[in-house]
Amino acid sequence: MDKVTPVTLEEMKRKGEPIVALTCYDAPTSALLDEAGIDVALVGDSLGNVKLGYENTLPVTVWEMRHYTQAVKRRNSRALLVSDMPYLSYETDPREAARNAGILMKEGGAEAVKVEGGRRILPAIQMILKANVPVMGHLGLTPQSIRRLGGYRVQGRTKENARELIKDAKALEQTGVFAIVLECIPKDLAKRITNTLSIPTIGIGAGRFCDGQILVIDDMLGLSDAPPPKFVKKYASLRTQALKAVLRYRKDVKTRRYPSVEYSY
Ligand code: KIV
Repeated sequence: MDKVTPVTLEEMKRKGEPIVALTCYDAPTSALLDEAGIDVALVGDSLGNVKLGYENTLPVTVWEMRHYTQAVKRRNSRALLVSDMPYLSYETDPREAARNAGILMKEGGAEAVKVEGGRRILPAIQMILKANVPVMGHLGLTPQSIRRLGGYRVQGRTKENARELIKDAKALEQTGVFAIVLECIPKDLAKRITNTLSIPTIGIGAGRFCDGQILVIDDMLGLSDAPPPKFVKKYASLRTQALKAVLRYRKDVKTRRYPSVEYSY
């Protein structure tokens, strides 16, 4: 299977072929994504929530992103490997943004980075692109801005907010990002943005008209104990299965049924 690149994704949009993306945080899952032919593996800063037990993505650092990206890289051969730039690693100083993006590429093995925001962060995006790092955008519900947005709410519901999002999407495309994640916006707005742009859109909670879809892998596998957002389709209930297995193991050890002769030397 050929390696997926940003150019591949643009070709897929032109051909009308849906892009399949998932988040990924470790080596075995990376191998699984490759085997399944997933197009984009995103080392999302959602790892703060789903792997590190933080309340949100704000505490995640560049070093944590580098660490998890390295793990994913070790077993990645096909999917485009995108790493999230965490909160405060790019917004305030474009040079620092480029340096941090460079760390994720050079030391982490990322093939592209993702940043949250529109016109507000164009100087950072320009500088990252100057350092030859491909950039994916992220608009709509941007979890690094939850304090300003007032929580995890659907965005783009008002005419004015929708207009701003369309302007942001056009500005990101003009600046040179190769794709944009659209999170939690009404499906008709996502359709409008998707039809306006020549670069692909990848939706999460943004309906079926996007050029591709992404989900947090822990959500779609049912690994979390918290109820997932409305847009998540659960394709498995791994937490329930894992809990059953751990309880059976506990019982076996308590009753000395494990390890029996067949598991002994
Ligand atoms: O951090 C993440 O997992 C993301 C996806 C939800 C797109 O940004």
